[in-house]
Amino acid sequence: MSIGSDLRTLYSLTFKRVRGGTHQERLESFYGHQAASYDDFRKRLLHGREEMMQALPIPEGGYLLDLGGGTGSNLEALGERLSRLAGATLVDLCPSLIETAKRRIAERGWGNVSTALADVTTYDPGRLVDAITFSYSLTMIPDWFAALERAYQLLKPGGVLGVVDFYVSRKWPAEGRRKHWALTRWFWPTWFGFDNVFPSPDHLPWLVAHFETLKLEERFGRVPYMLGLKAPYYIFIGRKA
Ligand SMILES: C[S@@+](CC[C@H](N)C(=O)[O-])C[C@H]1O[C@@H](n2cnc3c(N)ncnc32)[C@H](O)[C@@H]1O
Repeated sequence: MSIGSDLRTLYSLTFKRVRGGTHQERLESFYGHQAASYDDFRKRLLHGREEMMQALPIPEGGYLLDLGGGTGSNLEALGERLSRLAGATLVDLCPSLIETAKRRIAERGWGNVSTALADVTTYDPGRLVDAITFSYSLTMIPDWFAALERAYQLLKPGGVLGVVDFYVSRKWPAEGRRKHWALTRWFWPTWFGFDNVFPSPDHLPWLVAHFETLKLEERFGRVPYMLGLKAPYYIFIGRKA
């Protein structure tokens, strides 16, 4: 961590205009100049990622898809379990982040991990898989419902889905779910929305409706340099029937 790289990242997050006519161009415009410092800053912003990866019950010899996988840092959290998988593919639409992921895979010697530069709403691995993860990617995918439907189709029966992301509650959430104040429900979608990140009240209800819930945590996590402000996030692990 260095103040210089933090300041560059904060400048990008706060002032740099995201440009581009397509979703991919906008992702590259947003991440292109942050790819090198991405992991360091996001470690302190994107809470719960290691916990989700470590809690995900992927069977030995199974196949994992990490959708919107970015630099591949989440795969580190699997530790030894990664080498016991038949394979894992990291799918992302941003060329700069995929390049960073490729370097990590080569440095670590992860022979069973591949990358795909693709849109997860239409990506076809040509097989069904045992586990799928979305780590802070659903909120950046405009057609999040298409991404989740695709993931559902690609999972084997009994396969598991792990999601960790920002969200806000519905005004009237289902019984047992957290209820956020009106200011929380307004502030975080507005603030993140400047960077094309869209915390939604609907992701979690969709997940709970389509999967058997194995783990569900609703929490708040600190945002670096935001004077103690905490953003709501959840961890969901579910099994396809
Ligand atoms: C906040 S980053 C999270 C990256 C990584 N999963 C992590 O936890 O550090 C969101 C990622 O989603 C990717 N993304 C957004 N929309 C996508 C799409 N339609 N298809 C594939 N990747 C997408 C972005 O390029 C970016 O890498």
